[in-house]
Amino acid sequence: FHRNSHSSTSQHRNLWVLQICQQVINDMDKYGVCVVDNLLGEERGGQVFDEVQSLYTSGAFKDGQLVKKQKEGMQEGSRTIRGDKITWVDGKEPFCEHIAVLISLIDSIVMGANKFKNNGKLGCYTIRERTKAMIACYPGSGTHYVKHVDNPNHDGRCITSIYYLNKDWNTKENGGLLRIFPEGWTNQVADIEPLFDRVLFFWSDRRNPHEVQPAFKTRYAITLWYFDAEERERARRDQNRDQLQQFS
Ligand code: OGA
Ligand code: OGA
Ligand code: MN
Repeated sequence: FHRNSHSSTSQHRNLWVLQICQQVINDMDKYGVCVVDNLLGEERGGQVFDEVQSLYTSGAFKDGQLVKKQKEGMQEGSRTIRGDKITWVDGKEPFCEHIAVLISLIDSIVMGANKFKNNGKLGCYTIRERTKAMIACYPGSGTHYVKHVDNPNHDGRCITSIYYLNKDWNTKENGGLLRIFPEGWTNQVADIEPLFDRVLFFWSDRRNPHEVQPAFKTRYAITLWYFDAEERERARRDQNRDQLQQFS
């Protein structure tokens, strides 16, 4: 049985999802990064792409924002940090039905891996929630995202999952490589090409600084961040406390 054969029976689908869960558990333990190719297959991956492209054409995307508020007059500066255009969806919006299928499959993989027995580092988390899906477009002409950590300050996010949508991507000509600098890998990096129907998982915290190198062709990706319940709860408590202190 090959996990990319997209069998139509639910038993085979479950087995296929379990195999991906096992790969996620193993690779996250060993590398803190996991890549799975041919997630949806040509047809369903193409349907997700069509929905994303329609959303982009409809004008739904805005400039990507930085977590820390930019000072007045810094908008131009933020563009040199991060050149993507983004929109957030939960999959229930009109014309997002295939995006919704993708989201629920990635949910099954992450939640499944989190619940598995012998689930190593992943088992230290309790994953019940995630963000909406962030759909990002780097519109070519050298747009990029400088080296950063998604969750440097314990906001609750533990796993970043990115699904790429770019057919015929030629990294030599089109750039757009995701370069991860895993903590503790001396003089080694993980270079991930943003290839069509590829899904990537990595720890969101300081273990994985990463950058998007300049893209010279339109580059689409869909990102989900999964929360650890305990870290998320603590972050919420701290935020509430800080807000109360402003008034005292
Ligand atoms: C991000 C990010 C990586 C990518 O949006 O935080 O790092 O490959 N994206 O699109
Ligand atoms: C390292 C390391 C793994 C890899 O450089 O320390 O763990 O896949 N590398 O290159
Ligand atoms: Mn990032």
